[in-house]
Amino acid sequence: MPHQKVYFVTGANRGLGLAFVTQLSADSSNIVYGTARDLASADALKKLAASHPNFTPLEADVVKPETIKSAADVVAKEHGYVDVLIANAGIAETFTPIKDISLDELSRHWEVNAKGAVITYQAIRPLVVKSQEKKIIFISSAAGSVTGFFYLPNAGYGSSKAALNYIIRSISGESKDEGVKVLALHPGLVATDMGKRGIAAVDISSMNITVFTPEESAKAMIEQIEKFDETDKFLNLDGTTALW
Ligand SMILES: NC(=O)c1ccc[n+]([C@@H]2O[C@H](COP(=O)([O-])OP(=O)(O)OC[C@H]3O[C@@H](n4cnc5c(N)ncnc54)[C@H](OP(=O)(O)O)[C@@H]3O)[C@@H](O)[C@H]2O)c1
Repeated sequence: MPHQKVYFVTGANRGLGLAFVTQLSADSSNIVYGTARDLASADALKKLAASHPNFTPLEADVVKPETIKSAADVVAKEHGYVDVLIANAGIAETFTPIKDISLDELSRHWEVNAKGAVITYQAIRPLVVKSQEKKIIFISSAAGSVTGFFYLPNAGYGSSKAALNYIIRSISGESKDEGVKVLALHPGLVATDMGKRGIAAVDISSMNITVFTPEESAKAMIEQIEKFDETDKFLNLDGTTALW
């Protein structure tokens, strides 16, 4: 029997996550799991599962380790491995400069975008190690770049993605001996709920930035995910190098 590639995507009920699981499930040889914080209201995922038997929605909140662990247990029982983890869940709730940001706002972004990625990794890692592909993908952002820094008033989000980038590089380092390949991706500016909120908050008219649909961005990122073969990389959706 040919190898069945198993994907696990967090934050799959809308935006880029939904585009990922929709496109990955379109290939019936893939096995796809996608998480939502509230499965009862995740209508798009229920619809996808009804038409695609290779897709399974699971409930998980990346800041609640026990929920990700329960989702991992389901996959462990059904398949025993995850070829490709796509740690996609994230928030950008506010666009505030550091001088004004509340500590709660700061903590919340760090909690979901940085700590949530660690919680996800710790729970799914044992399944990735057991797989053929052994790929871990983090959806990061150019907004978290330190070496390619450009000013935006997004203290909570930007700093959380900078922390995520450190975490990603650290995971690359600790995983090399096991053959696990780690990739950070910048999806571009994408017209999801998050992206639209950003566009409304920050004047991008002088920046000459393309705005992608979630479908366009996910398609391009899936191409990068399929073809990358070297760990510890940070790429744009067209495969060019992004700056850490
Ligand atoms: N859109 C852009 O322009 C852009 C640019 C650069 C990077 N990114 C990154 O791309 C990723 C996806 O963003 P998006 O644009 O698709 O955003 P989005 O439309 O706002 O969707 C975010 C997803 O993350 C989930 N999520 C939020 N907090 C969570 C938690 N604690 N546990 C589990 N899931 C949680 C949301 O679930 P709920 O529905 O339950 O809230 C939702 O499914 C993020 O990591 C983001 O930082 C986006």
